[in-house]
Amino acid sequence: MAGSVIVSAIGFLVLARAGAMAQMAEYTDPNTGITFQQIVKNEGGYTFGIALAESLGSDFIGQITGTGSEGWVSVSFGGRMIDSLLLVAYPNGQGVTASLRTAAHYSSPLLFEGDAILKPIPEGTFADSTGFSYTFLCENCVVDDLTFDGSDPVPFLGWAVSKNSVVDPSSPSSLLNYHDFYGMFGADIEAASSARFAEWAAMAADGPDFPPPPPGSGNGTFPDAPVRGQTYDYIIAGAGAAGIVAAERIAESGASVLLLERGAASFYASGGEVTVPWNDTVTVFDVPGILRFIPATPGTNAFCADTAAQAACILGGGTAVNGMVFVRPPERDFDDFPEGWRWDDVADAAERLYERNVHTLYPSQDGEYYDGVIYDVASKSFESNGWRHVDAIQNPNEKHMMFSRAPCGIVNGLRGGPVRTYLPLAQALDNFKLELHTKVIRAVRTNSTITGVEVEVNGAREIINVNQGGKVILASGAMSTPRILLNSGIGPSEQIEIVASGSTLVRLPEKSAWIDLPVGKRIQDHPLWTTTWNFTGEAARLPIVSTETLQDPSEEMVEQFAHATGVLAENDIRMELWADITPFDGVTRYVQVELYGKVTGQFNMDIFLTKGSTSRGELGITTEGATHFVKDPLMNTDGDNEAVNTFVETLLDYTHEPDAAFIWPGPGGANATASDVLKEMVSGIHVVASAPIGTDDGREGGHAVVDLDTRVYGTDNLFIVDASINPSVPTGNTMAITMLVAERAAEKILALSLDRCEGPQG
Ligand SMILES: Cc1cc2nc3c(=O)[nH]c(=O)nc-3n(C[C@H](O)[C@H](O)[C@H](O)COP(=O)(O)OP(=O)(O)OC[C@H]3O[C@@H](n4cnc5c(N)ncnc54)[C@H](O)[C@@H]3O)c2cc1C
Ligand SMILES: *[C@@H]1O[C@H](CO)[C@@H](O)[C@H](O)[C@H]1NC(C)=O
Ligand SMILES: *[C@@H]1O[C@H](CO)[C@@H](O)[C@H](O)[C@H]1NC(C)=O
Ligand SMILES: *[C@@H]1O[C@H](CO)[C@@H](O)[C@H](O)[C@H]1NC(C)=O
Ligand SMILES: *[C@@H]1O[C@H](CO)[C@@H](O)[C@H](O)[C@H]1NC(C)=O
Ligand SMILES: *[C@@H]1O[C@H](CO)[C@@H](O)[C@H](O)[C@H]1NC(C)=O
Repeated sequence: MAGSVIVSAIGFLVLARAGAMAQMAEYTDPNTGITFQQIVKNEGGYTFGIALAESLGSDFIGQITGTGSEGWVSVSFGGRMIDSLLLVAYPNGQGVTASLRTAAHYSSPLLFEGDAILKPIPEGTFADSTGFSYTFLCENCVVDDLTFDGSDPVPFLGWAVSKNSVVDPSSPSSLLNYHDFYGMFGADIEAASSARFAEWAAMAADGPDFPPPPPGSGNGTFPDAPVRGQTYDYIIAGAGAAGIVAAERIAESGASVLLLERGAASFYASGGEVTVPWNDTVTVFDVPGILRFIPATPGTNAFCADTAAQAACILGGGTAVNGMVFVRPPERDFDDFPEGWRWDDVADAAERLYERNVHTLYPSQDGEYYDGVIYDVASKSFESNGWRHVDAIQNPNEKHMMFSRAPCGIVNGLRGGPVRTYLPLAQALDNFKLELHTKVIRAVRTNSTITGVEVEVNGAREIINVNQGGKVILASGAMSTPRILLNSGIGPSEQIEIVASGSTLVRLPEKSAWIDLPVGKRIQDHPLWTTTWNFTGEAARLPIVSTETLQDPSEEMVEQFAHATGVLAENDIRMELWADITPFDGVTRYVQVELYGKVTGQFNMDIFLTKGSTSRGELGITTEGATHFVKDPLMNTDGDNEAVNTFVETLLDYTHEPDAAFIWPGPGGANATASDVLKEMVSGIHVVASAPIGTDDGREGGHAVVDLDTRVYGTDNLFIVDASINPSVPTGNTMAITMLVAERAAEKILALSLDRCEGPQG
């Protein structure tokens, strides 16, 4: 029961876990006669019960129920979502579909591939219009490290519920949409043990027969989609950080631009509807101070169900849900880019971006900093250890043992970013059109010429063409743009074969026309460790604004917010610091730390390993059309390990000083080592490099997927402008550099049309 920390989606909600209390009650199910220890969650209309043998073996019996006729329910037998054995159940119209799964990242979990077997207990398994119940024997389900193991009499289990239908309710491997409700509970497994276990277990039937998977897509035995009459000069897939910037700049040229976004509106001003209880003209996306509530706010549907790690599928993409931290990239972040893309080449694009996309160290319009305790205490402490204050906006190149208030894109007290700073300018133009709820499936092409895109709207397919000489630009993000490429017959052939054999009904080009490029082969991300530390002495009593206060803000806070001031107008990252470390391999790495907190006396440090990291992974696709990591991108080199360990040992050294301002309260206590601190790593959700830019043409053994004009090698008119093309992780968070690269890409793409007189405008 040692204290540890779980991190939810986004590394956001952080629950300190000091030891579980049993929260279950005895319940005898009338249908099966089995006596469970059961948890009831009213928020999600959820119950889960467990029954075990008197001496814990590898099997147990469970019963999970949900309300309504759609959505899904889940239990994590290891507590957390990540690296735990999960059970997921959903109604399928006739009965219940259930599966065992695991997740390596905060995205739709994949089927569990170990020996565990689910056997339904028919008397307790049914679905009707009011709800559903799945009762099961789980054989070989107590699995090392993935579940409770008997060492703790009251282990934490996790629960999650979504009220939205899964993608394919009849398939046990269906993609799952994001949960609406989730949390943890203490499971009293001692009380759940019974001498009657064997008798109950004997009620289990052999596994359900799920219908055979649908035939592969590659056969082409499905109708062509109808073609829209209207055509466009430019079609851009994805209205996130990059897509909005590129679309607006291209629309400024007068060319007709269609921007397609698969998600819904986010900000109130863009048509978003999920308003906050205390102000009906702002959505949960608009209010900087409550950014961590987004994942758990029902109705937001902000996250993609089909990406390898967490990504946002809503207008604005990552910029609608992220921490708003806008880090101007240091010049060296362009050192890995090819010629024409080094700092001197992109400096003008940076100026254009910085001028338009407002960002500041002091988001409250009155220039005050509210909730300033963490910065005040931590900055003094780091200063006394030799760190320097550097304004991260004025001096982006300075990243050696420095700290700054967090630079953030906040405009008039509201979340900023491209939905606020670029999109309205585009929407004022007659030649620009944004279509929401429109998912681009593939680029339609004849050999190297792209003629348009195939899209899906409300389950129906349509083909939208570009004009003669027109261009298709992909901006769906580093984990979704690769899906569109593979669906277009572009990428490693083993991945395109999976599309061909899959269930997503994608019409691929003839095999002879596939373009063999290393899509996904060098994907990179920042690893993230969320760590919690305690202030000492007087500082431990200085008040820090709590989650509860933000959930139910006072009239004064609401009034301040209406004037673009106060703590609700501040995002909640109080301080950023960077350091550089050069381990044994001679490669300098940067570490970025974000400080924030919601508990008086404590603060979190989100530690990211950034520029210089040598770990890379590989992205692939599943037969359901989800991207997933064939090889995990995080922390697979010794140099990366040494760098981050060295950094954390330095932090621990500070805690040992006699006048230490903070201490490590977690496992190991005063004797903790870096490995105690670096226990739980997640994605920093700063994914890049799935389709790198470069001169080393990937068709000829190089790494590059796009050329210096951001055009996909082997095509005439398919371009990529999003985080996919960045060849390596930057020093800071990825939003600013992604927007900057999109500014530069728009300039390159427009110049191309002019140079060659082939553009739509001649
Ligand atoms: C939770 C979270 C927190 C983060 N915190 C920060 C932070 O504080 N600071 C920072 O700098 N960075 C942060 N990031 C990262 C940053 O937001 C991303 O790097 C950035 O948004 C990437 O930009 P992009 O244009 O490549 O992709 P995205 O912004 O992801 O945009 C892609 C867009 O394409 C749409 N799309 C996807 N597939 C399709 C399709 N097939 N058809 C049509 N549309 C499609 C998506 O819905 C989305 O709108 C965070 C990211 C997340 C997810
Ligand atoms: C596509 O390219 C192949 C090989 O170069 C060629 O034989 C074929 O005619 C081309 N198809 C079209 C429609 O241009
Ligand atoms: C369709 O193609 C897949 C593989 O590409 C194959 O497994 C399947 O049998 C084919 N189905 C039909 C009906 O031909
Ligand atoms: C709601 O927020 C908006 C945007 O900050 C503000 O203009 C408005 O006055 C607020 N309304 C109320 C009732 O507080
Ligand atoms: C750390 O701070 C929390 C919150 O104030 C407190 O509950 C806990 O006991 C502290 N731990 C230590 C080791 O000081
Ligand atoms: C740290 O180690 C010392 C020496 O082994 C031991 O006496 C002490 O109890 C340890 N402290 C903690 C907090 O574990």
